[in-house]
Amino acid sequence: MNNKIREYQDKFVMKTYAPNLLLVKGVGSVVIDDENKQYLDFTAGISVCNVGHCHSKVTAAISKQAQELVHTSNLFINEQQPVLAQKLVSKGFDGVVFFANSGAEANEGLIKFARKWGSDKGKYEIITMHDSFHGRTLATLAATGRSQYRQGFAPDMPGFKHAYFNDIESIKSQVTDKTAAILLEPVQGEGGIIPADREFLQQVRALCDEKDILLLFDEVQCGMGRLGTFYAYQSFGVEPDAVSLAKALGNGFPIGAFVVQRKHENVLQAGTHASTFGGTPLACAAANAVIDVIDEENLLENCQKMSKIIFERFNDFVKKFPFVETVRGKGLMCGIKLDRPAAFLMQPLREKGLLALTAGESVLRLLPALNISEAEVESALNIIEEVLSEVEV
Ligand SMILES: Cc1ncc(COP(=O)(O)O)c(C=O)c1O
Repeated sequence: MNNKIREYQDKFVMKTYAPNLLLVKGVGSVVIDDENKQYLDFTAGISVCNVGHCHSKVTAAISKQAQELVHTSNLFINEQQPVLAQKLVSKGFDGVVFFANSGAEANEGLIKFARKWGSDKGKYEIITMHDSFHGRTLATLAATGRSQYRQGFAPDMPGFKHAYFNDIESIKSQVTDKTAAILLEPVQGEGGIIPADREFLQQVRALCDEKDILLLFDEVQCGMGRLGTFYAYQSFGVEPDAVSLAKALGNGFPIGAFVVQRKHENVLQAGTHASTFGGTPLACAAANAVIDVIDEENLLENCQKMSKIIFERFNDFVKKFPFVETVRGKGLMCGIKLDRPAAFLMQPLREKGLLALTAGESVLRLLPALNISEAEVESALNIIEEVLSEVEV
């Protein structure tokens, strides 16, 4: 690795991560390191580069907008933001959109939306799920069910309660007359690629309707086409009151958003919530291009097709390798759960040219771009099979 870059990384970058691969270029689902070694990228920047690295249409939209108008603040209207809001609404339920810059910030917005909605009714508690992940800001950390992320940052922001995912009775036991909202990921990502049961989501929706509680979906990782539908909730047939997006919305250009149902459009009014950078013309130009690419290249269809191929092979792995316990996931959120921590697989996979991820402790996670080709999927699965074959049982 380039010595100066390594030295600067070690000396000047805070050690909140421990990366050891220097990437210099990306095209589609291939990334190249500084020694010109190529890798198939089945991380997509952790569910971000859903239309592949440096997609020509997204790059062109960013370049064009960068020469016209980069930032105005939300004190002025720009030509890109309303178009993006219309696109996001046209893909799902009727409503209005607030633009932010990241997943955590989009979820902070959802939390503020719920508190504001509940403020006249004396409702402020939010029920979230054990093993969930909602971000690293203080409110989203308190919402996050994976307690290890909260260690050392006490006290937790008050107002959050945790229930068990896919367990309606556990949620019911946490509901009080102060419950404003239930927040969950339709497929838990960081927690281990765990999809909600359709029936569970239907029960949660019915509970929210009965008790006058908002249902909020965090689709930061599982939205934007990753499950083979534009919004994750469309894969389950259950509509939330509001949904957050980020990650793949800009394909790597930072942007987040949350969409609330039309009936809630006046909950957050002028002056109640804001973000200097939220929805800049540049970020929205990138996101507009991403949505056009998803449509023009039929990526939802490709996602479903590639998903089928991956899960069929994953099921074979369960039969073939005793340490592979189960298959986890939906769409192109794909996992296999091992009987041991999965981190040891990362290096051998990388040596054979595949970048993959873990989730939870014992899940090997693949999050390829939605325009991944069948040949790339086959190569990745062959590499995984080779590496699994070398594991000592
Ligand atoms: C479901 C979910 N919500 C929120 C976040 C936080 O997003 P960000 O890192 O953009 O703040 C993540 C990040 O992994 C996520 O997976």
